Amino acid sequence: MTADAVRAARPRVAHLPHPTDIWNALPAPMLLLDPYGHVALANSAAETFLNMSQPQLIEKGWEQQFPEDSPVRALVDEARQNRTDIAAYDLFIEFLGGRRTRADVLVGRLPDRDGWLALSFQPRAVTSLVDRQMGQQGAARSATGVAAMLAHEIKNPLSGIRGAAQLLAEAADRDSRELTGLIIAEVDRVRALIDRMEGFTDTRPPSLAEENIHAVLGHVRMLAEAGFGRAVSFRERYDPSLPPVLGDRDALIQAFLNLVKNAVEASPPGGTVTITTAFRQGFRVRAHGTGARVSLPLEVCVIDEGEGAPATIADHLFEPFVSAKRGGTGLGLALVAKVVGDHGGIVEYDRRQGRTVFRILLPLAPDGR
Ligand SMILES: Nc1ncnc2c1ncn2[C@@H]1O[C@H](COP(=O)(O)OP(=O)(O)OP(=O)(O)O)[C@@H](O)[C@H]1O
Ligand SMILES: [Mg+2]
Repeated sequence: MTADAVRAARPRVAHLPHPTDIWNALPAPMLLLDPYGHVALANSAAETFLNMSQPQLIEKGWEQQFPEDSPVRALVDEARQNRTDIAAYDLFIEFLGGRRTRADVLVGRLPDRDGWLALSFQPRAVTSLVDRQMGQQGAARSATGVAAMLAHEIKNPLSGIRGAAQLLAEAADRDSRELTGLIIAEVDRVRALIDRMEGFTDTRPPSLAEENIHAVLGHVRMLAEAGFGRAVSFRERYDPSLPPVLGDRDALIQAFLNLVKNAVEASPPGGTVTITTAFRQGFRVRAHGTGARVSLPLEVCVIDEGEGAPATIADHLFEPFVSAKRGGTGLGLALVAKVVGDHGGIVEYDRRQGRTVFRILLPLAPDGR
């Protein structure tokens, strides 16, 4: 039978189901929120999940089912304030009244409908594989929780230990003073590590402004040349017409500094670290939530002539505590992933013609070209 014959023999469906029926048949709880945060629509699964009918949800709001400090509320606020799609995986969700569940929560903006959000929940059992696929964003998010806990639980007692060692040192003989010095030095080292980790616990929305990426990179290069990068040469290949990025200057400097430091550390003696920028009109990625395609036309590459990451860790470079260096914390690239993710961009590791390339793609500031 030809393809046409097959098509002709297929029984015709008289009516397509109405979109409302499809919406209500979806197994995932979904809410459509208007720009004021009011529920405009709730599907049947959402009614069951939230234990409220659609008319009740429209009248009373969805938030009242969740405590003030609920992560679900925080995510919706974050998506609204930052005008971004957000996906949080494996959240522990508590309802007022004590019911608890675990779910992935996706907040997506509606394309062409400013301020409208789709809030959906994916009960956990179905999505247990997602963890492995979400890569950088997930790595950064899981690091957030660990870092916040560590910072809180360890930093305070550390001050006490340091203070006690200083007091002991005052009354100690020379040998013992060496030991108290050791305690103080080690406490300071752990403290510095925690300070670094605290970069992850800052969940405030980044303060975004239009930034010239070349000015950011120039500053990074200056810092590198004055310090850790003295033994290598730097080369720039910039696209001078690059429009501004909507970014947090300090966070971007920190991220590029981490990349350049890694590049220097990987370089052979006398090697060259190259920083390039380019405008790539065509590059788009699928955003979490709505599935809308987001354009990421600003490209920055940090390139070195080293041998690249060991194969054993190459797939996990952006996860926290992954390091092949003696004394490395493995937090440098995890922070890069967090900062780039906060800016709505992506970062990837690549080997090209015997060189190592870390490529960052960022969206334009809204009024850019
Ligand atoms: N340019 C690079 N070339 C080769 N390997 C790299 C490069 N950048 C990162 N890596 C690998 O990725 C690992 C993780 O990097 P990351 O910056 O997160 O931590 P680190 O450099 O080991 O420690 P820290 O940044 O705290 O000094 C490194 O240990 C290294 O093995
Ligand atoms: Mg590093």
